[in-house]
Amino acid sequence: MGLFRGRNNLVGIDIGSSAIKLVRLRPVGDAWELVAFSLGHLPPDAIVEGRIMNFAVVIERLRDVMRESGLKQSQCAIAISGSSLIIKRLALPEMTKAELDESIMWEAEQYIPFDINDVNVDSQILNPRAGQGQMDVLMVAAKKDVVNEYMSVAAEAGLKPVVVDVSIFAALNMFEANYSLPPDQTVALLNVGANSINVGVISGGNVAFTRDLSVGGAKLTAEIQRDFNVSYEEAEAFKTGAESSLSSSTIAREVNRIADRVCESMVLEVQRSLDFYLATSVQSDIQRIYLTGGTAQLPALIRALERRMEIQVELVNPFRNISVDPRRFDIDLLQRAASVAGVAVGLALRRAGDAI
Ligand SMILES: Nc1ncnc2c1ncn2[C@@H]1O[C@H](COP(=O)(O)OP(=O)(O)OP(=O)(O)O)[C@@H](O)[C@H]1O
Ligand SMILES: [Mg+2]
Repeated sequence: MGLFRGRNNLVGIDIGSSAIKLVRLRPVGDAWELVAFSLGHLPPDAIVEGRIMNFAVVIERLRDVMRESGLKQSQCAIAISGSSLIIKRLALPEMTKAELDESIMWEAEQYIPFDINDVNVDSQILNPRAGQGQMDVLMVAAKKDVVNEYMSVAAEAGLKPVVVDVSIFAALNMFEANYSLPPDQTVALLNVGANSINVGVISGGNVAFTRDLSVGGAKLTAEIQRDFNVSYEEAEAFKTGAESSLSSSTIAREVNRIADRVCESMVLEVQRSLDFYLATSVQSDIQRIYLTGGTAQLPALIRALERRMEIQVELVNPFRNISVDPRRFDIDLLQRAASVAGVAVGLALRRAGDAI
């Protein structure tokens, strides 16, 4: 029981389908300093639909990012997302956390389409409704086999995952650490990755809605690959504009045309989710959409969102409140990679002993 017990932030490790992101933060007063950030790309078939297909390559890449970061600490926070998760907001009679822990399995059973014995269930009391004898509870159920899959690759790479978070919750934590919202605002946060979009809505300071969609920027890479008959790596370079000669060429025009079409279909799915939220809540509008995740850097996505949703869109900077020593990090490079770090920053805010 050391003096600093509980003060140590965990290593945040976001195992995404296109890349593993590692972030380590150090608390400095009420803020944080960046200690490590590294990124390791994965081939497109290593993780498919949230399931790890190629364990060896994921473990190897985990070892690479740890080595590159130079960290000795192995306690980490990881995240899962997608169809292996059920997240539900429940209105329950007021009770203590201990009572809730005892009854949550019973409550959860009716909302879970899998065998209750195949899931881990966790819950959090959101807001006791004063005087009404009721409270809002956030219930999270995660398939044990998927949790075990992610825990085991981490363990094989020499890490100790002590917190398993949910990707959208980690992204929302990162957002709240960096942006302060007026409590009466309702905003959406989208984490737009390679094969998924994690949607979260915060209203009145609470998580009001979450949904994971299985579309993302990899669709654009695949279409570029097919259209131009190029490799995955070349298509990625076309997409991200890494080929500097692209800017005025016919290739760039064609890439933009495909990007507009793919982003339009992504935005339609986002719109369907947000419309569903608005139709089932007392809120009548969303004031702003914040974006994180690698695909958030696509200008075509921001254009399509603003056009279709008629809501202002803003790219989140996950390092906004985090001090970065320019002698240790290339600030330009970090700012360009900032979008992909969103979930990993949220995970790096977690501490050992936090509840799941
Ligand atoms: N500058 C850029 N412009 C467009 N797309 C980009 C850019 N930088 C990265 N991307 C895309 O972002 C995606 C990677 O983002 P991210 O790391 O958030 O995804 P992931 O976590 O691996 O995926 P998922 O969470 O869906 O499994 C890739 O599809 C990549 O091509
Ligand atoms: Mg991701």
